[in-house]
Amino acid sequence: MAGFWGRRFGNMKIHICTKEQAAQRAAERYVQLLREKPNAVLGFATGSTPLQLYAELVRRYQAGDVSFRNTTTFNLDEYVGLDGENTESYRYFMDTHLFSKIDVPKGNTHVPSGIGCTDASVTVYDDLIAAAGGIDLQLLGVGRNGHIGFNEPGTPFGSITHIVNLSRSTREANARFFNSVDDVPRQAVSMGIKTVMNARAILFFAQGEKKAQVVHDALCGPVTEDVPASVLQLHPDVELYLDFDAAKLL
Ligand code: GLP
Repeated sequence: MAGFWGRRFGNMKIHICTKEQAAQRAAERYVQLLREKPNAVLGFATGSTPLQLYAELVRRYQAGDVSFRNTTTFNLDEYVGLDGENTESYRYFMDTHLFSKIDVPKGNTHVPSGIGCTDASVTVYDDLIAAAGGIDLQLLGVGRNGHIGFNEPGTPFGSITHIVNLSRSTREANARFFNSVDDVPRQAVSMGIKTVMNARAILFFAQGEKKAQVVHDALCGPVTEDVPASVLQLHPDVELYLDFDAAKLL
């Protein structure tokens, strides 16, 4: 089935298309952004959903279409207790799937530290983002319970980077990356909802039937802290890439 592009849904521009089309179209947006602003600040996400986009960004870099040499990056979140050498850490994920394959200087890449963090210390992440000039383009996936980053249902919309207690359902959903659910850390450091909403533009990806209900609730339901992704209805520049399964209840 061919994709269709640029449907408006309130403030949001929605693309319903295949994963391949989503990766290509979204990668093109990065290429354009970096042509206009080579030192753009990019917010990245982890999970299975962005993998094709990252592969496409690598491909466009290798083709000489884009350089990340002058960019600064900030990831959404990290598990508490995992250092960057741990293969389940989000730092390791980003190094493996993107950073080691493009020309961004390692020192320009930021992932919250999950080691030795306290409620007070993690807020420094927001200061780092502000000092870099703020995020130009933030990539987001969504959890089945509506979380963005690791902001679980009930997280205040005014939150900045903070330590999160992960819900049982989130730990179960992410257990596939670990030996068992008991190995999934119970806490994470996550950009807050306000941190995410401060980004100038947001790219939101959702794929698969398991995301259909939450995509519906986030886009068509009330804006409520019970569905963290619903806050995106309030952002002035959100572009969504949904596959046909994730969009089926719209
Ligand atoms: C994790 C991450 C989220 C991500 C979510 C969905 O919980 N903290 O940022 O959006 O997983 O992951 P997936 O793309 O694998 O469905």
